[in-house]
Amino acid sequence: MKWFVLVCILSVNFAKHEHYIGWKSYYIAVSTGDQSKALVPMVQKYELDFLSHPSKGREGVVLVKPQYQAAFVKELEAEGIVYRIHVDDVKKKLDYDDQLIEVKKKSTMSRKRSRKLPFDNYQDIQVIDNYLDNIAKKYPKVAKVVTGGTTFKDLPIKYIKISTTNFEDETKPVIVIDGTIHAREWITPPTVTWAIHKLVENVTEPDLLKRFDWILVPVVNPDGYKYSYHIERFWRKTRSYDKNPVSFVCRGVDANRNFDIKFNTDRYHSDYCRETFQGTHAFSEPESRVIRDILQQNLGRIALYISLHSYGSMIMYPWGHDGSLSHNTPALQAVGSAMASAIQNKALPDFPRYQTGNTGQLVYLSTGTSTDYAHSIGVPLAYGFELPGLADGNAGFNLEPKYIKQVCQETWAGFVVGARLAGDLFKIKI
Ligand SMILES: *[C@@H]1O[C@H](CO)[C@@H](O)[C@H](O)[C@H]1NC(C)=O
Ligand SMILES: [Zn+2]
Repeated sequence: MKWFVLVCILSVNFAKHEHYIGWKSYYIAVSTGDQSKALVPMVQKYELDFLSHPSKGREGVVLVKPQYQAAFVKELEAEGIVYRIHVDDVKKKLDYDDQLIEVKKKSTMSRKRSRKLPFDNYQDIQVIDNYLDNIAKKYPKVAKVVTGGTTFKDLPIKYIKISTTNFEDETKPVIVIDGTIHAREWITPPTVTWAIHKLVENVTEPDLLKRFDWILVPVVNPDGYKYSYHIERFWRKTRSYDKNPVSFVCRGVDANRNFDIKFNTDRYHSDYCRETFQGTHAFSEPESRVIRDILQQNLGRIALYISLHSYGSMIMYPWGHDGSLSHNTPALQAVGSAMASAIQNKALPDFPRYQTGNTGQLVYLSTGTSTDYAHSIGVPLAYGFELPGLADGNAGFNLEPKYIKQVCQETWAGFVVGARLAGDLFKIKI
C-alpha cells in the first residue's frame, strides 16, 4: 500500500506541466493601431493566451500552443509585428519555477519553524485561508472573517473585514481590495494578505485604521487558484460547467467578464473555450457575486475599489468596455498617478515603470469587469492594477519568489497614498 502511494506521488510529480509540452511564449510589440487590430482575430484563430498585454511602448507576452506556432509567426511577420521568443520550452520553465518555490519554502521553513505565511512564498489556498482565520482569532476587535460565498467545487470564498468600529460608524469611508479573480495571477494573494498584515499586525500607518473600514479579499477565485497551483499553471477562469456538453470539456468562466456591465455586448467572449468566456449570463458565477455583494452592501461608503491582477505594471481605470472616459476621469487619473509614483518610489530600478490610464486606451477593451461594474454603480475611484511580473531577463513565468516581498511593500505604498487621497475626495452620501 505504502509502495503504491509512493508510486502515485512520483508519477503525479513527473506528469506535472506535461500539458505544456511543446508550448512556447513570445514577446510581442505593437506599434500601430492597425497592428493592434490585426492581433484581434489571431486570438481566436491561434487560441492565443496573453499573459501580459502589449501596450504603448511595452511588449506583451503571449502563450502559443505547438500546432499554431508556425502559422502565428508567419502572420506576425506579414503584419510587420515585432516579436521574439520569450520562453522556448514552457514545460521546462515551469519545472524551474517550481524549483524556485521549493528553495524558498526551505529557506522560510528553517527560519520560522514551518509557520507558513501567504506573503513569504506562493502558497496553497489553505495557507491563505488559515492566515485569515488566525488574524481574526488573534485580533477579534478589529478583524472578522466572512465567507462571502461557496464555489462550484464547494470551497469557501473568504474575505476579511477590518474596522475599529465594527463597521458601525457609517461616516467612515470603506476601501475594498481584491485579488486572484484570475486564478494564475499568483502575486496577487501575497499583496492582499500583506495589506492585512500592515493594517492589523504591523501598523505603521494608524490613520488608515482610524479613518477607514477595509474589506480585503485575497482570493476571489479559490477553485481556479487551487487548479492553477496544483494542476494547470496557466488556468485563469473559474471551474464551473453547466448542462452544455461543451462546457464540460472547456470549463470555467472568466469571472472578470461576468459582471453586469455591458455584459457580452461585444459578443467577443461568448465561446466556452475562450480564456475570456464571460458565462451564459451576468453573475452566473459565485466569484463575481461575492464581489457584487460586497460592493452593493457598502455602496454609499466605498471611496476606493482596487482589483489586483498581473502582470504589466499598470494602473487602469474605467471605462474598460469602450475606452471612453468617465465623468470622474480627472480624479481617477490624479489618484492613479499618485499611487503609481508612490509605488515607483519604492520599486527596484530594474522593475518596469508603472503606466496609468484608461483601461481601453492603455491595453484593450473588456466588457463585464469588476472595475467597470463598481464605477457604474457609484464607486468614485475604481482601479484595476496589473502588478509587476517578470522584467526582461527574469527567468521564469512567476515573478521570482525572492521578489514577492518587494512587490508587497511597494504596492502597499500605493494603497496608503490611494486611501488617503480617496478619503480626502470622498463625500459620504447618507
Ligand atoms: C513593523 O515591522 C518593522 C519591520 O520588521 C519593525 O521594525 C517595526 O517595529 C514593526 N512595527 C510595528 C508597529 O509592529
Ligand atoms: Zn487578470
